[in-house]
Amino acid sequence: MTDLGGRIHQDVGEVLITGEEIQEKIAQLAKQITDDYRDKDLLLVGVLKGAFVFMSDLARQINLPIEFDFMAVSSYGSATKSSGVVRILKDLDYEITDRHVLLVEDIIDSGLTISYLLRYLEARRPASLEICSLFWKKGEQAVPLEVRYPGFEIPPVFVVGYGLDYAEKYRNLPYIGVLKPAAYQAESG
Ligand code: IMP
Ligand code: MG
Repeated sequence: MTDLGGRIHQDVGEVLITGEEIQEKIAQLAKQITDDYRDKDLLLVGVLKGAFVFMSDLARQINLPIEFDFMAVSSYGSATKSSGVVRILKDLDYEITDRHVLLVEDIIDSGLTISYLLRYLEARRPASLEICSLFWKKGEQAVPLEVRYPGFEIPPVFVVGYGLDYAEKYRNLPYIGVLKPAAYQAESG
């Protein structure tokens, strides 16, 4: 817990996973990815904004010459439940046809966002398409999902930190945690 050093954000009621635990997991995921894509050209596609922190740490542990692209989607607004509507705010910069694509996501909750993105990317005929998601509220998905590189399975609670926001705040916390009820009340006025 040295990474916390008593600096837990005042709005956070409980730390679920520490920064150290996250970094250990990322090292394992990156090693697996490095082994699996050793002879392939790998393109990481990050889902903004949430995945930018994870993708940055993950990419620097992957010991291969990778390339990057990003998509930005919106599925939540500032509420804590999925609206079911996925909007593309930023499309890919590059063609992915015949590329080995690894979709990097921060968290899978209902699975709506990632399912939509899989269909969208699959239509562009990549050579391969896999998912790496740091957090996964497993059991919450209406449709079964195959996540090749899952990080942590977490309970179905709303979490913030390590890229994840509530109303665009808390993304820079180095751990993930659950907000105190007062943090939501402050937001709704
Ligand atoms: P899904 O479409 O329900 O799977 O939700 C996926 C997206 O919703 C993620 O990429 C996040 O941006 C957001 N999200 C889901 N659960 C959480 C959470 O617990 N905290 C913050 N954002 C979340
Ligand atoms: Mg979000």
